[in-house]
Amino acid sequence: MKETIRKLRQEAEDALSGALSPDALEQVRVSFLGRKQGRIGILFGQLGRLPEDSRKEAGRLLNDLRSWLSRSLEERLAAAASAPADLPDPTVPGIPVNVGRRNPLLLMRDELVDIFGTLGFEVATGPEVETGWYNFDALNIPPDHPARESFDTFFLEDGNILRSQTSTVQIRVMEKRRPPIRIVAPGRVFRPDTVDSTHHHTFHQIEGLAVDTDVTFGDLKGVLSMFAHLVYGEKLDTRFRPSFFPFTEPSAEMDVQCPFCSAGSGCPVCKGSGWIELLGCGMVDPNVLTAVDIDPAVYSGFAFGMGIERIAMMKYGINDIRLFLENDLRFLAQF
Ligand code: DAH
Repeated sequence: MKETIRKLRQEAEDALSGALSPDALEQVRVSFLGRKQGRIGILFGQLGRLPEDSRKEAGRLLNDLRSWLSRSLEERLAAAASAPADLPDPTVPGIPVNVGRRNPLLLMRDELVDIFGTLGFEVATGPEVETGWYNFDALNIPPDHPARESFDTFFLEDGNILRSQTSTVQIRVMEKRRPPIRIVAPGRVFRPDTVDSTHHHTFHQIEGLAVDTDVTFGDLKGVLSMFAHLVYGEKLDTRFRPSFFPFTEPSAEMDVQCPFCSAGSGCPVCKGSGWIELLGCGMVDPNVLTAVDIDPAVYSGFAFGMGIERIAMMKYGINDIRLFLENDLRFLAQF
């Protein structure tokens, strides 16, 4: 009898664990605890036939089994009643997927590379850690030029520097190649500037260089005016002002009509002038061509350089250069 009760308990446990719905639990109850044909009840009915000494123990075991099973059934029924339905609830809102975006700085860089690409300029790159030759000497920047001072350039302990302009890439390209050359060089540059809304110690420039026979200032104006119109729209005019850079002669700065007060009425961004300075440019200085063994009597060229942050700030109406590097999603999600 003891062995029969043990087996019955095992069967009850198996039946219980396979019963997942209230209906299935009810079937287990009827099969084991049912009044007439319940399997526990049947064994109770057989107790009378046992000898006195084993009857007592078998009775106790059967009682235990019966109360354990009723308790378990109750618990399982309660759990089944409070459990969620088997089917998924189609009205629950989905889990949002955050799709990444490109930083506006890279959008701007790629737009510029595309624009100059259509004009036949290919992309060139150079290292961010440079020697004085590429950052200064070959670019006709004399030894006593203020740009060489430590408050304008990061000097490394080994004597190298962090490039303060992408003009270095002009030299790297011209040392390796002969004209015709048409390249743009986007990249990161560094200056020990105090960070504020318009300055950063780390920012980006895109450099341009075209060297060939018979390149004129007219070519420079044509290329840069087209770039400005493509970025800021046909309506805004450009102008060239005389300026000075050691590596170009003559040199100029190019302005575009202020995109914020739509050309001329004057606003805080253009400080009332109606014009905004975009970039520096000029005809490649003969000394630079000579430094890279290109004969200035045969070849001429133009060059330009601009800050990508600045071009993007003017295009998108961004008023703080720090936003590009802060990874603030409220800012980045707008592009
Ligand atoms: N390298 C200059 C700067 O960082 C920008 C520049 C001016 C580049 C004139 C040029 C150029 O190639 O011709 O301010």
